[in-house]
Amino acid sequence: MESDEKNNSSSFPIGETAQEKGLSHVPEAYEVPSSQRPSLEPETADVPLIDLNGLRCGGAADRRGAIVEEIGQACRRYGFFQVVNHGIDQAVLEGALSAASDFFSLPAPEKIKFFSNDVHKPVRYASSLKDGVDTIQFWRIFLKHYAHPLGDWINSWPANPPTYREEMGRYAMEVRKLGLELMEAITESLGIGPKYTSDKMEQGMQVMAINCYPPCPQPSLALGLPPHSDYSCLTVLLQSFAGLEIFDSKDGQWQLVPDVDGALQVHVGNHLEVLSNGRFKSVVHRASLHHEKTRISIASLHSLAMDEKMGTAMELVDEEHPKGYKESSLRDFLDFLAKHDLGQGKSFIKSLQI
Ligand code: OGA
Ligand code: NI
Repeated sequence: MESDEKNNSSSFPIGETAQEKGLSHVPEAYEVPSSQRPSLEPETADVPLIDLNGLRCGGAADRRGAIVEEIGQACRRYGFFQVVNHGIDQAVLEGALSAASDFFSLPAPEKIKFFSNDVHKPVRYASSLKDGVDTIQFWRIFLKHYAHPLGDWINSWPANPPTYREEMGRYAMEVRKLGLELMEAITESLGIGPKYTSDKMEQGMQVMAINCYPPCPQPSLALGLPPHSDYSCLTVLLQSFAGLEIFDSKDGQWQLVPDVDGALQVHVGNHLEVLSNGRFKSVVHRASLHHEKTRISIASLHSLAMDEKMGTAMELVDEEHPKGYKESSLRDFLDFLAKHDLGQGKSFIKSLQI
């Protein structure tokens, strides 16, 4: 029965996973194949750090043009960049990180109230990707919740810790505003104008993934999250310290995103790759682990509405660049996620390629 046990994550029910119990070794079910193991001394990613000062209205027009250009180049080269002077106060960032950290410090029963493996649930707490389905376990626990329109969802968020709704709510609103501004700069850089997706993004979805990666006794054996790209148009990530790694397809290397004080990480997601007809590629990334510290990250995923299909901009299709992708919605992604084990390399974006 040993092999059954190895592949059966129900031997680690929520509340009793190795990462929650603080085991002093990594159980076999968490060991990633040797070719996919993280380096303890990864190369540092040389990704653009973009100063957004001047992007917002009031900024001199020539300044905006230069920033838009930088953003477009970063999306083309890496599908990823970091931003500073993004307009979100340090106190708001710290408030969100400590609300998240306080949530994960609650006794297990307080968190398990939110437990669900149904990927369609608007608020859910779980471990790994989909407990009981993934064949390899990942050293993570998370809370996912919808965040826009905030008034529709905030009352179903945790009421404990008592500051959670206020602190996370404030960050949610501000990071959404930033996400929409970045989308405008991005469509402008594609030559289809800053308002191309504005109305639909305004009506769109915001999903927040609040991730907790407890200390891992053998960080070279396990991962917090397997390699994946996000379904979103754009993901903005806030982290308590470095741990996010991106795959540089040019170099064929995993690289650690450097920790820059106050910076936010911006990922091109699958739906933006589709919109851009592949001019921008969604960045493949994973989360590595620390041997003694708990790492917290908050990913805010911005997309069109649940049933709104994202298709390729016809302006970006011609004889030289035939349409490369099928259209899809967030619901299509969730249905895909419910059926496939993303830890085994099944990717949503591949399913959209024509
Ligand atoms: C995610 C994600 C990375 C991290 O939540 O989709 O990629 O560093 N998180 O936590
Ligand atoms: Ni991600």
